[in-house]
Amino acid sequence: MATAVLNVTLVLALFSCYFALLASAQAQLTYPPEVDALQAIRRKLKDPRKNLRNWRKGDPCVSNWTGVICTMPQPDGFLHIQELRMLNLNLTGKLAPELGQLSNLTVLNFMWNHNITGSIPKEIGNIKSLKFLLLSGNQLSGPLADELGFLPNLLMFQVDLNQITGSLPKSFVNLISCRHFHMNNNSISGQIPSELSSMPALIHFLLDNNNLTGNLPPEFSQMPKLRILQLDNNNFGGTEIPASYGNMSNLVKLSLRNCSLQGAIPDFSSIKTFRYLDLSRNQLTGGIPTNKLSDNVTTIDLSYNLLNGSIPSNFSGLPRLQRLSLENNLLTGDVPSDFWQNENLTATVRLIIDFRNNSLLNISGSIDPPSNVTIRLEGNPVCASANQLNIARFCGITIGDDDFVPGTGDETGSSSNSSDSCKPQSCPTDDNFEFVPDSPVDCFCAAPFEVGLRLRSPTISDFRPYIVPYKEFITFNLGLDLYQLYVKSFIWQEGPRLRLFLKFFPQYINNTNKFNNSEIQRIRDIIATFAIPSNDTFGPYELIDFTLLGPYSNIDLQPLESGGISKGALTGIILGTISFVVAISLAITVFVYKRQTKSRHEVSKKQSSGKVPIRTESVKEFSFVELEAATDGFKDNVRIGQGGYGKVYKGILANGTVVAVKRAQQGSLQGQT
Ligand SMILES: *[C@@H]1O[C@H](CO)[C@@H](O)[C@H](O)[C@H]1NC(C)=O
Ligand SMILES: *[C@@H]1O[C@H](CO)[C@@H](O)[C@H](O)[C@H]1NC(C)=O
Ligand SMILES: *[C@@H]1O[C@H](CO)[C@@H](O)[C@H](O)[C@H]1NC(C)=O
Ligand SMILES: *[C@@H]1O[C@H](CO)[C@@H](O)[C@H](O)[C@H]1NC(C)=O
Ligand SMILES: *[C@@H]1O[C@H](CO)[C@@H](O)[C@H](O)[C@H]1NC(C)=O
Ligand SMILES: *[C@@H]1O[C@H](CO)[C@@H](O)[C@H](O)[C@H]1NC(C)=O
Ligand SMILES: *[C@@H]1O[C@H](CO)[C@@H](O)[C@H](O)[C@H]1NC(C)=O
Ligand SMILES: *[C@@H]1O[C@H](CO)[C@@H](O)[C@H](O)[C@H]1NC(C)=O
Ligand SMILES: *[C@@H]1O[C@H](CO)[C@@H](O)[C@H](O)[C@H]1NC(C)=O
Ligand SMILES: *[C@@H]1O[C@H](CO)[C@@H](O)[C@H](O)[C@H]1NC(C)=O
Ligand SMILES: *[C@@H]1O[C@H](CO)[C@@H](O)[C@H](O)[C@H]1NC(C)=O
Ligand SMILES: *[C@@H]1O[C@H](CO)[C@@H](O)[C@H](O)[C@H]1NC(C)=O
Repeated sequence: MATAVLNVTLVLALFSCYFALLASAQAQLTYPPEVDALQAIRRKLKDPRKNLRNWRKGDPCVSNWTGVICTMPQPDGFLHIQELRMLNLNLTGKLAPELGQLSNLTVLNFMWNHNITGSIPKEIGNIKSLKFLLLSGNQLSGPLADELGFLPNLLMFQVDLNQITGSLPKSFVNLISCRHFHMNNNSISGQIPSELSSMPALIHFLLDNNNLTGNLPPEFSQMPKLRILQLDNNNFGGTEIPASYGNMSNLVKLSLRNCSLQGAIPDFSSIKTFRYLDLSRNQLTGGIPTNKLSDNVTTIDLSYNLLNGSIPSNFSGLPRLQRLSLENNLLTGDVPSDFWQNENLTATVRLIIDFRNNSLLNISGSIDPPSNVTIRLEGNPVCASANQLNIARFCGITIGDDDFVPGTGDETGSSSNSSDSCKPQSCPTDDNFEFVPDSPVDCFCAAPFEVGLRLRSPTISDFRPYIVPYKEFITFNLGLDLYQLYVKSFIWQEGPRLRLFLKFFPQYINNTNKFNNSEIQRIRDIIATFAIPSNDTFGPYELIDFTLLGPYSNIDLQPLESGGISKGALTGIILGTISFVVAISLAITVFVYKRQTKSRHEVSKKQSSGKVPIRTESVKEFSFVELEAATDGFKDNVRIGQGGYGKVYKGILANGTVVAVKRAQQGSLQGQT
């Protein structure tokens, strides 16, 4: 009789225990303080387009909150927030200090929301795991906090196109992993701290369009890896370019346009990697260094300075040269014709030579440049005496209408004419299908998706000869065939930056004409995580948009899988965790229940009652003593979590099996009895 009552009570208790555990396991998958932090972050943001509407219900990691990507379960038994991808969601409002509580975050991305205001919370400096801090394209203001320097794992620090003021903290020297420093187009002021030259990993230092003053730190020449130093449109108040910059062994690009610099041009001839030099619009004086620059050079812009002397012949024999701008200086002597007599140049490259508004008297040698070379000589004495038609054509009398000028757009021609010879009706263009321009077979009709990118600091001046190398570079890194990428168009923007409009086509395999979702996902993930290595020619890039039209318009791209956690795995983990915890809890619950019942009945039997008989086939029996031994007496150092109904411990059974043991809390059990 008494046994029957006990059994019914036991079953009820077990059921309520099971459902309580089910609820708690669901609700507690994300580390609760991080859920609170996300809610605080949400409260500080304004979301006019309701892109975060699903941030109200359920668990962030389980209910797939927009832009929230979670870790695998951590040793504490919880999932933690790994990435916040809030790119381009039209969010406004402010960034909450609670961001600093997301202690396992690796990616913090609020780029291109345009109207997020306020300062960058210094608490972000607490996130030791952070690798990508991406805040470009907002209205963030205030100074950069010293605390942001204490991020030992940070690889990429992007706050360009904001309204940051104040100076660069010296503490940034502690960013020992940081490779990319993109802070252009802000109002950062003061001297560049020479301490930053000790940043061991830095390769790209982009602080153009700020209010920097003082002088260029000579110590920067000691940065072991620096490849791009871009500081255009700052005001270095008449100081000089340190001569030691000619010793930077890995320098690829030096851009110091409009920086109020004076003095002489350093000699860059010993830098083998050197490709791009822009020192225009300063007050540089003296002559142009005469040693020959690296064969890799594409661009030399020394225009709008006070340079004198004659034009050295060192520019000839630069096989990749695309632009030589020396206009608006005080140069004298002859125009050397070696440039356009370089046979290696003419086949591959278009060359702009701009010598306008100097004091050049004559042209030495041939005046018959190849058609790909454009020469501008207006404003020189040589043009005043230009009675020969041969010279007059360099003096603005006729200007080639195909002149390359950064800032103008360009359509790229299709390299295949399949679209002309194919029947239009066989490709439903209204559903975003089209003939693949570079298809290996005739009239391959497929649906592309489009990607908008911008090269932030390319080291070329004319993209046309580099379209094929660019396609090779991108398709190689994405594991695609060359014809799968089509450069639809490109346009040069202020900077100069290069905006690219790309189309990706599916692979031609038995005439499948669409990408499957996982392939789109894979490509998106590689591009969005900057997993494409940086390339000296194309420089760093930014993702502007990723457009899925036609057959792809209903695809829901899942958050990034890499390193994160998939839905299937998550379901498995939830079910596994629940059944395991339930099983163990059954054992403990029954044991404790029995014990309490026992003590209430003042039963004075000996320890032989340690074993609890449970007639459930699938559950092994454990004695409290066994469990106590397995968990080393429920010590805190083996505790791996804290659930709503008690603490969770990691235990090792006598046979070596590792188990999680949930010990019901006194209080919670009393509630049930
Ligand atoms: C995940 O979130 C996206 C965007 O919020 C939503 O469209 C999608 O339906 C969600 N998927 C699942 C499985 O919940
Ligand atoms: C953001 O706003 C623009 C218009 O201002 C709209 O075209 C775009 O679809 C919005 N994007 C999102 C993700 O809400
Ligand atoms: C996650 O955060 C916790 C607490 O800050 C830390 O102990 C743990 O090492 C972190 N894990 C990872 C993978 O960063
Ligand atoms: C940003 O705010 C301004 C003024 O409030 C508004 O005109 C503009 O449309 C907003 N831009 C975006 C992208 O929301
Ligand atoms: C950066 O600032 C410069 C100077 O104000 C401006 O010309 C340029 O367009 C800005 N860049 C971008 C990408 O907005
Ligand atoms: C930056 O400098 C420019 C010109 O020197 C000045 O007009 C502007 O007010 C400065 N901006 C800030 C925020 O200091
Ligand atoms: C460049 O490096 C060489 C060798 O390390 C050194 O002798 C020379 O003084 C350096 N030049 C400058 C301007 O720092
Ligand atoms: C061009 O640059 C590469 C590295 O980017 C270097 O290995 C090579 O020697 C350079 N070429 C010349 C001629 O300096
Ligand atoms: C053209 O290239 C060849 C082989 O690289 C080289 O020997 C020759 O000197 C180059 N000519 C000029 C004018 O630079
Ligand atoms: C001009 O350059 C293009 C590549 O940019 C090349 O295809 C063409 O053959 C060149 N023309 C001449 C006449 O060298
Ligand atoms: C950059 O791209 C060019 C063109 O494809 C390639 O030749 C070069 O090896 C690439 N460099 C790196 C470092 O990937
Ligand atoms: C293409 O079709 C042929 C014949 O139908 C088949 O043998 C081949 O395996 C298919 N190739 C692929 C990649 O599906």
